[in-house]
Amino acid sequence: MTRIFSGIKPTGHLTLGNYLGAVRRWAEVDQFRADSLFSIVDLHALTVDHDPGRVRRLSRQAATLLLASGIDPERATVFVQSHVDEHARLSYLLECVATDGEMRRMIQYKEKSVLERARGGSVRLSLLTYPVLMAADILAYDADEVPVGEDQTQHVELTRDLAVRFNQRYGQTFVVPRATPPKVAARVMDLQDPTSKMGKSHEAGAGIVYLLDEPDVIRKKIMRAVTDSGSEIVFDPESKPGVSNLLEILASCQVGNPEALSGAYESYGALKKDTADAVVELLRPVQQRHKELVADPGYLEEVLRRGAERARGMAKPTVDGAYRAIGLLPPV
Ligand code: TYM
Repeated sequence: MTRIFSGIKPTGHLTLGNYLGAVRRWAEVDQFRADSLFSIVDLHALTVDHDPGRVRRLSRQAATLLLASGIDPERATVFVQSHVDEHARLSYLLECVATDGEMRRMIQYKEKSVLERARGGSVRLSLLTYPVLMAADILAYDADEVPVGEDQTQHVELTRDLAVRFNQRYGQTFVVPRATPPKVAARVMDLQDPTSKMGKSHEAGAGIVYLLDEPDVIRKKIMRAVTDSGSEIVFDPESKPGVSNLLEILASCQVGNPEALSGAYESYGALKKDTADAVVELLRPVQQRHKELVADPGYLEEVLRRGAERARGMAKPTVDGAYRAIGLLPPV
């Protein structure tokens, strides 16, 4: 059976980008067709300046939202990365296979390190090695597929390179995975700046729809989305990033494609209104279920306890095998 691994980082409140690009597919498709693991990758949240209490709160909230989105812990393994030691164990071995040049070429490292420095801060070493930990997340579970948004595909390519290199040097150990981004909404853009990604760590909130935003807030944000020059409503991300982003969001909500919506609207107002309605309706059941789950924290704890136990059982044999293959003496 196909094995799927994907993760979400608790660095901010989950956004519509996370939902349309990743989580919704995990819940609606992936968990039914594959042996799936979905992780709250909290170790990754420590790579930038962080507040410990906030990371804890966001980790619980992200886990709750995965369940609220319909991920069924009886079908899929839902767990917190730091509860399973194998991620950090394997990450070190992969650091001995990866090169610093490879790390410095990662787009996200370049973007985030520039940002950190511009804020007057220093760059944590773990930000540079981040993609190696991500590779460990995936390779520890022998995952075949990694359903992620477009921004993560370079990291999955690196994961493939590391798996192949390790296998060639030390013998067949890892499955070589592949990224499976969605056809529509692989990169949802910020509503106020449609040339940059809608990201949960961005500070300004006006261009970001959060999964837990109230319906009237969602409507306001979408109605105020920036639009492009000219009044034509066509799908053309290069020259019309604003309107194309709205078409992409609407198409994704309707499980259609944005090209097909080109020409279907005569005014921005009507497109925005339909997009806002579609997003509000899509998120309504998730928000409702989230409310119910928050009232029962014991349930979440039990799900995460069982998830970590299952994940540990899956990762340990592969990671132990990698330790032996690379030349480390087995413990006596
Ligand atoms: P993260 O937490 O930034 O995002 C979680 C998932 O949401 C997708 N996503 C988007 N998709 C479309 N449009 C957007 N605007 C948008 N923003 C986010 C991301 O592509 C991702 O699929 N490094 C990863 C977490 C991670 C991981 C892993 C993922 C750590 N280890 C192993 C897969 C496998 C990240 O920061 O995702």
